[in-house]
Amino acid sequence: MNRVDYLRISLIDRCNFRCQYCMPEGTELDYILKQNLLTNEELLTLIKEVFIPVGFTRFRLTGGEPLLRPHIVELVAAISALPETKDLSMTSNGFLLASLAQSLYDAGLRRINISLDSLNPDRFNSIIGNRGRSQWQNVWNGIQEAYRVGFDPLKLNVVVIPGVNDSEILDLAALTIEKQWHVRFIEFMPIGNNELFTGQGWIPSEELRQQIRSCWGLTESQVCGAGPADIFKIPGAKGTLGFISQMSECFCDKCNRMRLSADGWLRPCLLNETGQLDLKTALREGVSMTTLREQLKELLTVKSEINFKQRYSGTATGNYSRTMSQIGG
Ligand code: GTP
Ligand code: 5AD
Ligand code: SF4
Repeated sequence: MNRVDYLRISLIDRCNFRCQYCMPEGTELDYILKQNLLTNEELLTLIKEVFIPVGFTRFRLTGGEPLLRPHIVELVAAISALPETKDLSMTSNGFLLASLAQSLYDAGLRRINISLDSLNPDRFNSIIGNRGRSQWQNVWNGIQEAYRVGFDPLKLNVVVIPGVNDSEILDLAALTIEKQWHVRFIEFMPIGNNELFTGQGWIPSEELRQQIRSCWGLTESQVCGAGPADIFKIPGAKGTLGFISQMSECFCDKCNRMRLSADGWLRPCLLNETGQLDLKTALREGVSMTTLREQLKELLTVKSEINFKQRYSGTATGNYSRTMSQIGG
């Protein structure tokens, strides 16, 4: 079994975008009530007293949109100051990043993954739910500012949706040539909005690699990261290309992470098919840290039974009730 040492922490289930594939406009979501969100203090207690002692050293802050979380900079500072934290990162939609990048960096955050599904502002706008014309520019400014401030590696996540943004693969890949930006293409998963899953629904990473290979060539490469991406690079490029291929090349057997939701549920898998722990209730009821550590160790033993491919193999259909914004990506 793999060593599980990477915790994805969802800080909030709300988002200022309404991406078609995640929480499209009009989706009725039962947002977590404020009193049910883990407080910063509770979160830090869990990290220090439960996760670190059991071996977790890599933490990623996600959402919804994590930058909507009040006091995010203070939280980043507190987690990054822990001597056991080997890697602290964030996944953001970038909309609020231009004004926060410097403070986040000063607080100790060194790497960030930003969603960028299109270079075309109109298309981008329609993907994220027609929320006004300046959205793309704001995200772009956020990316530029994060780069200027020194985030490294700076990764750009592209969910590839057939018929929507698959015409932009080469343009997006080209971003890595002149700048040390790391573009990752993610196979679209049937989580969230299944209506977009028409036809095949997703494009195998190998098809994208073929396209890129025939234009510039492609060699295997590496970049700092804890996730499932396979890394390549255009020869001579400053940045790399990552491919996250959960549909075509199930990587469940290499899984090294768990997910903590904003209301304190610890889940061993994106699909949440196996056990889960309600850490918030346990904390608030005064369950001892020793007991929580034992329960976490127990949950680690069920991880290897989960398999994404068994659920979605080939058919690319499926119905999953929680959205990525609720799970934390
Ligand atoms: P790095 O540490 O930079 O490698 O980050 P990461 O790839 O782990 O994080 P990010 O939040 O950028 O994740 C990108 C995408 O990878 C997610 O949105 C998912 O689409 C996919 N992903 C991450 N973890 C899992 C997982 O456990 N299972 C599946 N099926 N997909 C995952
Ligand atoms: N399939 C693949 N990736 C998705 N994301 C959100 N929904 C999906 C989906 N259905 C991605 C976002 C972001 C990350 C946290 O999850 O684009 O990069
Ligand atoms: Fe889009 Fe991420 Fe927000 Fe979902 S959580 S709507 S994928 S920006």
